[in-house]
Amino acid sequence: MATPVLATQHVSEFAADVRESLTKPGQRELPSKYLYDEVGSALFEAICLLPEYGLTRADTRLLQEYSADIISRIPSPVRVAELGSGSGKKTRWILEALSRRQLTYYYPIEISPHALAACEKELAQIDLVSVVGYEQPYLEGLRSVAEGRGERDHVLVLFLGSTIGNFDRDAGDTFLREVRATLRPGDALLLGTDLEKAAELQLLAYDDPAGVTAAFNLNLLARINRELGGGFDLSCFRHEARWNYSDRRIEMHLRSTCRQSVRIPAASLRVVLDEDETIWTESSHKYKAQEIPEMAERTGFRCEAQWIDQEWPFAQNLLLAE
Ligand code: AVJ
Repeated sequence: MATPVLATQHVSEFAADVRESLTKPGQRELPSKYLYDEVGSALFEAICLLPEYGLTRADTRLLQEYSADIISRIPSPVRVAELGSGSGKKTRWILEALSRRQLTYYYPIEISPHALAACEKELAQIDLVSVVGYEQPYLEGLRSVAEGRGERDHVLVLFLGSTIGNFDRDAGDTFLREVRATLRPGDALLLGTDLEKAAELQLLAYDDPAGVTAAFNLNLLARINRELGGGFDLSCFRHEARWNYSDRRIEMHLRSTCRQSVRIPAASLRVVLDEDETIWTESSHKYKAQEIPEMAERTGFRCEAQWIDQEWPFAQNLLLAE
């Protein structure tokens, strides 16, 4: 009987979030975490293969090249918790390096059940790695892992792929402080951050010529249609990527190409969109390399080391809890 109750809970939370964000005075929004249903997760995997989106390859190259160096700075035994594991492909490099020195527990924490299942399948076959997935919000999952560990265990938190970039800078600080509050001194956070680069390159990465990112963005409306009975006509919206100079972030929007009225029955909502009005669906903040040690200092960490990819400016930052 637990399943239908949970399912309803999920739908009503989605409906409430859609209602609140779409009716915001001024700029309408939709929360970016809802981009990742089964279709959205598959489209994101496709984005990672695009030549214009260098981020994931840079992230992976750094892990591939420096995993041994990274883990040598954290004392054994280590338990690994990953926030938003996605498919878990890049994590293999860290887990393989750790499994050479110890039996390793790996806890992917992921709200998308499809991504979680893919990740468990991808990483469970590594020898001496035991995978236990948590289908929970980041901090809840992390608390469970931190509380369940043994006296001598250290926790290594992975927050890869520049997912932190989805937070505004202030909210990013708040989040790091919350992560720190779940940890003990000597625990570690490996934080992946995409670095600022030429505006044209950044825009192309979020508005690729094949239209994969456009499909990823538009799928959010299709998801509302599927799960909440929404009446969005996707042909009346256009994907848009913008570089916000003052906040140093890419923003994804969906632009309404005409004046239109849309009903979303499960959210008890009718919205009227003007021609050219946009719905803001995601922010991807970009960083300067020296910004990360400063963030660490403000939030109870110390930046132990930083590895930067030369081909696509991206940094892995190893933060140690003080
Ligand atoms: C998974 C949040 C890091 O912001 O670059 C990719 C998501 N959005 N293309 C990012 C995304 C559009 C991605 N993150």
